[in-house]
Amino acid sequence: MIQLVYGSRASRPVRFAELCKLLALAQRKNAARGVTGKLCFDGKCFVQVLEGDRDDVNAVYHHIARDPRHQELQILSVCEVEVRSFAEWHMAYCGVSEASKAVLERLGIPSLDPLELSAEAALAVLTDLPSLAKPEAVEAA
Ligand SMILES: Cc1cc2nc3c(=O)[nH]c(=O)nc-3n(C[C@H](O)[C@H](O)[C@H](O)COP(=O)(O)O)c2cc1C
Repeated sequence: MIQLVYGSRASRPVRFAELCKLLALAQRKNAARGVTGKLCFDGKCFVQVLEGDRDDVNAVYHHIARDPRHQELQILSVCEVEVRSFAEWHMAYCGVSEASKAVLERLGIPSLDPLELSAEAALAVLTDLPSLAKPEAVEAA
């Protein structure tokens, strides 16, 4: 299995309803491929981790990379893994709420800008922010 982490910048504003739809679709499609992971969106930038068999993760990533809703994609890390770190969800979500801003501050991460984010910081964000089944209206509004 591999674990792939990438970051990107939203190419335009992504509203709450669209984010909910995107996540529901991702969960359905990833389930069909046995891919699990987590998506974080702070209103400007995305950070996402994908885990699963190499062929499946590559297929999903290349599909995502063609999505015009984001740009300046940066693969932050790819590694072989024995076990999944994000096994609970085919795609969990975490937003950057007031509460989670404190987590980012504690981690010393000023922004999710993919051009600034280290692989280590991206994984810390995805690991430490609470996983949600879907976005919270207040965060994505
Ligand atoms: C930030 C972001 C993350 C996405 N994550 C996934 C994902 O994990 N799995 C997935 O199948 N599609 C994901 N998508 C959506 C795909 O890019 C694509 O729109 C969707 O799979 C529908 O593709 P289709 O119309 O070719 O079927 C994501 C899109 C964006 C912008």
